[in-house]
Amino acid sequence: MFFEADPERRAAARAEWLADLRRLVARGDYRQADREFERVLGLPEYTLYGAPKNGRPPEQFTDGSLISKVSGSFGGRDDVYPPQPSSLRHLTWSERVLRLSPDDVLLDIGSGTGTAIDFFGMFTEAKKVYGMEIEPDYAAFADRRAADLGLNHVHSLHKDILEEPLPDDVTAVYLFNPLGSTGDNDAVGTVADKLVDMGASRPLKVVVMGPDMASRLEASGAFTLESEKDFSYLIQGRPASSSWKFFTSGRAAGA
Ligand SMILES: C[S@@+](CC[C@H](N)C(=O)[O-])C[C@H]1O[C@@H](n2cnc3c(N)ncnc32)[C@H](O)[C@@H]1O
Repeated sequence: MFFEADPERRAAARAEWLADLRRLVARGDYRQADREFERVLGLPEYTLYGAPKNGRPPEQFTDGSLISKVSGSFGGRDDVYPPQPSSLRHLTWSERVLRLSPDDVLLDIGSGTGTAIDFFGMFTEAKKVYGMEIEPDYAAFADRRAADLGLNHVHSLHKDILEEPLPDDVTAVYLFNPLGSTGDNDAVGTVADKLVDMGASRPLKVVVMGPDMASRLEASGAFTLESEKDFSYLIQGRPASSSWKFFTSGRAAGA
């Protein structure tokens, strides 16, 4: 019913499902919400929450065909962060603040196996949703899955965001901690500069988790912090938290 041909019935079914997922999130059943979303869309389960970045095997999902070939010890890229999929906690908050309209085009920088692009493709009116992902297996999987689901406006491109310009049609950007700067490679600064260049010349909405990236956008003068939310959780039984921030440039806030 979430994928049926009739647009009105499909939209109603998706709206109802999103409300159900929000209810699970509101009562703290985060993993249940995540698992339900993954199960219905046929997305792989990530198995390494909280594992140290350099102690992970190349097979990072229950689906053994999804092999990390680029990050850390596998491909020597310490600036490439692991592929942890977004949680419904963060996605439902992001959907609320971004308020994507049929004029919007969303880019997920570091789109992994497609959880976020599929979520925004399913539950928002954005006319196009696409991801750029450096790990070839993840990018190919996400693109195939979206096509198999009939999400024809959702695409995953195998690209290194450090080497690519931001596409001209983008109006909104989602960043869930894709990269980190290393001693000789300011990966975060490279991507922050691209966002600031675009945001300085036209309206852009950006949701970001990653304190380094957020502070660079804040310091740039091109973006306004519209809202933020701290999420707390446990990593191997120890309390931790992450801060998500929503920025706009120009007059993008109410767009
Ligand atoms: C934390 S995951 C987020 C996955 C997805 N955005 C989501 O929310 O479900 C970060 C992803 O960024 C990718 N990544 C890291 N550096 C990248 C780069 N330079 N270009 C493109 N993707 C990159 C990683 O391979 C990883 O899959």
